[in-house]
Amino acid sequence: MKTLSDIDIANKIVLLRVDFNVPVDDETGQVADTSRIEATLPTITYLREHNAKVVLLAHFGRPKGEVVEKLRFKNIIPAVSKVLGTEVHYAEDCVGEVAQQAVDALPDGGVLLLENVRFHKAEKENDPEFAKQLASLGDVYVNDAFGAAHRAHASIAGIAEHLPHAAGLLMQNEVEELTKLVENPEKPVVAIIGGSKISTKMNLITSLLPKVEYLLLGGALANTVLMAQNHKVGKSLVEEELAGTVKDLLSNKLRVPVDVVVAKEIKEDAETRVVGVGAVEDDDIILDIGPDTVKMYVDSMEGANTILWNGPMGVFEMEAFAMGTYHLAKEVANSSAYSVLGGGETVSAVNKVGLEDKISFISTGGGAMLEFMEGNELPGIKALD
Ligand code: 3PG
Repeated sequence: MKTLSDIDIANKIVLLRVDFNVPVDDETGQVADTSRIEATLPTITYLREHNAKVVLLAHFGRPKGEVVEKLRFKNIIPAVSKVLGTEVHYAEDCVGEVAQQAVDALPDGGVLLLENVRFHKAEKENDPEFAKQLASLGDVYVNDAFGAAHRAHASIAGIAEHLPHAAGLLMQNEVEELTKLVENPEKPVVAIIGGSKISTKMNLITSLLPKVEYLLLGGALANTVLMAQNHKVGKSLVEEELAGTVKDLLSNKLRVPVDVVVAKEIKEDAETRVVGVGAVEDDDIILDIGPDTVKMYVDSMEGANTILWNGPMGVFEMEAFAMGTYHLAKEVANSSAYSVLGGGETVSAVNKVGLEDKISFISTGGGAMLEFMEGNELPGIKALD
C-alpha cells in the first residue's frame, strides 16, 4: 500500500476520499457524532500545509443512485467546517461542470466537499467512465476512507487506476493497528462481540474463536445463541434460521449471557426485570445483559493483554437498557490491556460515557473493520498498491 511519502502532493489538486457517513440526529438534523470527520484532520492538515487544494469525495447514507435532499452534504457543511477549523466550500454535484467550476475556484490550501457520490448509480457499480470523470478533477488521489474500504465503488476502487495514489494518514494508521491486532496480538486476547444480527458477525466469530481466550457475546445476536441452547427468548430479535449453524460455534471459549434485562415493550419508561436466561416469558423482549453476566464478563477480561470490542450489549440508546454496555465500556477503558474498539454504535457508547481517550485504538470502520479482521482483502486497500 502506497503512503503519502510515495507521492508528490505539493501544490497539487488532491482528490481525498473520506468517510463522512456520520450519524445524524433525526429531529434536529445535526451531526450526532463527529468522530469520523475529526479522524481526517491529520491528512487534511498535512495536505494543506503542502499547499495542496483538497477536494473531498464522500458518500452519505444509501440514496440508491438518486438525489435525496436530506442526504445532501450541504446539510453537514457547518459541522465539517467547524471540525476542520476552516471554510469548507461545497459543490452540488461530484462530477461535471458544477464540480469542475468549484475545483477551479478553489484557492491553494482550500478545502472543497463535492456532493454525495452515491447520488450517481455509477458509483456503486464502480463504473469505469464515472471513475474517470471523478479522476479528471484532480492531479492525485488519496484515500482516507477506511470505513468504506470494503466497498468496490468508483470513488474507492476504480478511481485509483487513473491517478498517482496513496493512503492517507488515517487509512495508514487503521491498517497498521488492525494488522497488528490480526497478526500479532499480545495474548491473552478477549473479544466482546455484540450488535443485532449474528449473520453479519458469523465470519468474524469463527475466525476469532481459535485466537482468543474468551469471546463474550451480547446484544440481540446473543439471543440466537441462547435459542440454539434451547432457551426461550420470548419476542426478542432472533435469526431463527441460524440457530442450527450457531450450535457448531458453542465451546468453552464462547460466553453467553446467564441473565438478561427484559421488558414487554421497547421504550424508555418500560417496566424492566432482570431474569435468568431460563426464565424469559413468552411476551418478554431481551434488551440488555444482566448484572451476573456483566460480572462474568468482567472476570473473563481479567488478565487479558488485548481486548477487542465490536457491538453494544443492548439497546444502550435508552437508559433503561444501557447498563450492560456502559458497565463494560468502563471496564474496557480502565483495563490495562491494549483495547481496540470499532463499529459506530460501540464508539458512540464509549463517547457517551466520556471514556474514548482511555481506549488504545478506536477504528472508524464498522463493516470495514469486521471484514479486515476476518482476513478479507478490502478493495479500497488493494487499489492503493
Ligand atoms: C459505514 O458507515 O460503515 C461506511 O461508511 C460504509 O457505508 P455503507 O455500509 O453504506 O457502504
